[in-house]
Amino acid sequence: VFQEKLARAASDVQAYIDRTIQALPSGDLQQAIAYTATGGKRLRAFLVLESAELHGIAREDALPSAAAIECLHAYSLVHDDLPCMDDDDLRRGQPTVHRKWDEATAVLVGDALQTLAFELVLGHSSLPADRRVELGLSLAQASGASGMVYGQALDIAAESASSPLTLPEITTLQAGKTGALIRWSACSGARMAGAQISTLSEFADAMGLAFQIADDILDVEGNEAETGKRLNKDAKAGKATFVSLLGLNGAKQRASELVMQAENALSVYGDRAEALKEAARFAIARKS
Ligand code: IPE
Ligand code: IPE
Ligand code: MG
Ligand code: MG
Ligand code: MG
Repeated sequence: VFQEKLARAASDVQAYIDRTIQALPSGDLQQAIAYTATGGKRLRAFLVLESAELHGIAREDALPSAAAIECLHAYSLVHDDLPCMDDDDLRRGQPTVHRKWDEATAVLVGDALQTLAFELVLGHSSLPADRRVELGLSLAQASGASGMVYGQALDIAAESASSPLTLPEITTLQAGKTGALIRWSACSGARMAGAQISTLSEFADAMGLAFQIADDILDVEGNEAETGKRLNKDAKAGKATFVSLLGLNGAKQRASELVMQAENALSVYGDRAEALKEAARFAIARKS
């Protein structure tokens, strides 16, 4: 079920994003935006669409938010890859934006994709205005200085910390840099419906952490052709990860526990949450 739904989310969201970008003024910036907003697993888009379906929201009302979170995520990757951040030359199997164009383009593409995300959430569905505001506000909180950007700041600071981060510190870092956008995605359907987000939030917190632990494990054990990015970089850069703290086996064990926790959180949904449960298992079984 999950793989089919993920594939459908990927193709629907890609089509939606392509149409949106075609409407932008043509030129280098537009082309770099299109390049950046292509590819990826589209897991966050899947979470938005699945969460919406669980809450009886029409797919066409959820698609703008699914496209938005992928634009915002793509912005975070372009900036993450910059020389002043992780300094990477490969992303999704292609040269990074600052390598293919230049740093100024990469900064601007990120800026543009970030604001485009809010434009989509706030302006492009027939959801009631108060629900769109709630989605936009929560997306701002998930993205900014108490969410993803906060996590990225802790990640960079950890590179030059005088002593290794503790387990609670690494958990806070990862809940920000990766967890916040995943949590927003999983909760978005509940927000569209004006329902409680607590159950999906609990699921997403566990799944998001497991997802980032898997990313850290892939950095050590993954295959560059499959991940489409440079590997064996975290240890050299002095990154604080679950692998650096617990070792590979400890990190794998922690990730498995978190997946079980994520699945258990969904028990109230019964069979209807099967695809989300599979998504949690995919978060750590994936090769890319
Ligand atoms: C990579 O995210 C960066 C992290 C937050 C771990 P993904 O692994 O979801 O990247 P794409 O979108 O599939 O390329
Ligand atoms: C990136 O984390 C998180 C964000 C972009 C917010 P990483 O730096 O570990 O992601 P990769 O490994 O470059 O994809
Ligand atoms: Mg990084
Ligand atoms: Mg990186
Ligand atoms: Mg990584």
